[in-house]
Amino acid sequence: MAEMRTAHTADLDAATLVAVRALLDDVFDDMTDQDFEHALGGVHALVWEGAELVGHGSVIQRRLLNGGRALRTGYVEAVGVRAARRGRGYGSAMMDALERVVRGAYELGALGATDAGAAFYAARGWQLWRGPTSALTPAGVVRTEEEDDCIHVLPLAVPLDLTSELICDWRDGDPW
Ligand SMILES: CC(C)(COP(=O)(O)OP(=O)(O)OC[C@H]1O[C@@H](n2cnc3c(N)ncnc32)[C@H](O)[C@@H]1OP(=O)(O)O)[C@@H](O)C(=O)NCCC(=O)NCCS
Repeated sequence: MAEMRTAHTADLDAATLVAVRALLDDVFDDMTDQDFEHALGGVHALVWEGAELVGHGSVIQRRLLNGGRALRTGYVEAVGVRAARRGRGYGSAMMDALERVVRGAYELGALGATDAGAAFYAARGWQLWRGPTSALTPAGVVRTEEEDDCIHVLPLAVPLDLTSELICDWRDGDPW
């Protein structure tokens, strides 16, 4: 019997955070400490089968710059379901919960999709950002060409031109 719970990072105990990291290491072969850190500080969706964590995703706040605006953005991170447990609706249940947070708290949703994940998000209404992407680094705005084909957004009330430039705020590790 699976159970999905949502909780802010502040309400996850140390053992749960260890379980989240172990799950993400299992799902992604290139998970770094910085990738894990990027998933903290917001709302997590966690799927448990008994005592075993089998799914995780989170949404954290970032500022994305577009058209002269600094959009309060719910940025989805670290979405993964243990391989043997996929196809049971866990990923959808987690995204339902995270998208509810995005719609209720932010002006825009955004995420960087893996090649394998892009179709999953597209089927949920996330749209590929088609314009150039950049990051607002300490040295100024720097293009992030390698991310140009993987940033997806969930447009909300703010009108967007998906072919315009999109700039993310700065952080250590991968900017997107
Ligand atoms: C993407 C992922 C989270 C989906 O989790 P899941 O629990 O298998 O998803 P669900 O069972 O809720 O599937 C929901 C729907 O999405 C579809 N789907 C699942 N994974 C998909 C994928 N990679 N591409 C396209 N469609 C996908 C399912 O067929 C299903 O469609 P249906 O509703 O028409 O039956 C899971 O495959 C995963 O962990 N992948 C590896 C990590 C990853 O790529 N994460 C995304 C990082 S950006």
